[in-house]
Amino acid sequence: MPVYVLVGGQWGDEGKGKVIDSLAERARMVIRFSGGDNAGHTTINPYGEFRLHLVPSGIFHPHVTCIIGNGVVVNPAVLLRETQELQDRGVDVSHLLISERAHLIMPYHIILDGLEEEKRGKGALGTTRRGVGPAFSDKVARMGIRVGDLLNRDTFLSQLSSILEFKNDLLTKLFGHPALSLENIFDEYSHYGEQLAPFVRETDSLIHESLARGEPILLEGAQGALLDPDFGTYPYVTSSSPLAGQACLGAGIGPTQIAGVIGVFKAYITRVGSGPMPTELKDEVGQLIREKAREYGATTGRPRRCGWFDAVAGRFSVRVNGLSDIALTHLDIFDGFPSIKICTAYRFGDRVLDCFPGNTSVLERCQPIYEELPGWQESISGIQDFDRLPVPARDYVKRIEELLSCRVGFISVGSTRDQVIQVKTITP
Ligand code: IMO
Ligand code: MG
Repeated sequence: MPVYVLVGGQWGDEGKGKVIDSLAERARMVIRFSGGDNAGHTTINPYGEFRLHLVPSGIFHPHVTCIIGNGVVVNPAVLLRETQELQDRGVDVSHLLISERAHLIMPYHIILDGLEEEKRGKGALGTTRRGVGPAFSDKVARMGIRVGDLLNRDTFLSQLSSILEFKNDLLTKLFGHPALSLENIFDEYSHYGEQLAPFVRETDSLIHESLARGEPILLEGAQGALLDPDFGTYPYVTSSSPLAGQACLGAGIGPTQIAGVIGVFKAYITRVGSGPMPTELKDEVGQLIREKAREYGATTGRPRRCGWFDAVAGRFSVRVNGLSDIALTHLDIFDGFPSIKICTAYRFGDRVLDCFPGNTSVLERCQPIYEELPGWQESISGIQDFDRLPVPARDYVKRIEELLSCRVGFISVGSTRDQVIQVKTITP
């Protein structure tokens, strides 16, 4: 494998962590390219169960250089806590690096994320309140501070003092919030800078040397296509692009280097936070999926909204990401279901839509049109060979392939590393 991109195909939480952990075995480098600690990537492997927010999910393979890329926003406190926890539990983190170009989440970003949500009232977006949106806004507004800046106290102090003047005006005059102390933030973050220094690197040349040697590289996405600021359900989206196109920008690799794009989809669909979700199940079936699959946010603990697989949204995701393969996760959750539904189109008034609408107010009024497929009664969580799956499970997978016009190369049938069916080699 030269460079492969792995992205979320739905509204996030598709099981990207598990798939990366599994594929990283054959990689030399894993680079996270977007998002911040709003992500929560759950991985169960021989070290135990982990919920990673910032550290790439390749960290459990000591031969893999793991890079937090320039496209990520970093809360240093969260990152240090995460690396400490990994070390405490026996995971070597000496192969972790952070791009000096990555932006920082500052205390005012977190406060503003909360205050803005409060001010939106009923229209709240349901953000993770981790300061991710405000940090990406500042990056584009050229008011950000980058990880590399922390390493020089003078530079950091001068940047922080001018930016904090703006932020304190915003906090006190618009929101009536007490001003933040320059000294406190400077001391706190300088201390983080000292602790992070061994990880911070000019990672560009390292990545390009690895590319030149033809080494296998995985680019790890966060969130999912339907949360993309352009192509998702705006404004109920996140603030950095979770799409494959962003992998190039967030890692500093040109599009001609990408050999394939793997989209991770759950066998059903979930969403946390606000916004339309045509196949949401507010009944006991949704409840059953939630309990069986432990669908509670890895970052915020919020119950996830659960629903049937949405092939209209799925097809859209395949197209905007240019997916070459699908990794289908949580198929085992349907063990014992009498039947399973797939949404193949939307009803909008008297029209039938088979394309995902760009207008969120249209999507809000769409009703799912379902096709019902037979379920299977046995447990599939020990199966490692596609041909051994019960016929209805195989048919379900094939129907998804047909509806999305994309092959399913990888199926996950349980939470551990080996509960995987490699249908095809997706990263040769
Ligand atoms: P992973 O990487 C699911 C959602 C939030 C909210 C919206 C905006 O685990 O798939 P933000 O804090 O980003 O400004 O919130 O995006 N969201 C996610 N939902 N999985 C994620 O990450 C998410 N990251 C953000 O719930 O609706
Ligand atoms: Mg998650």
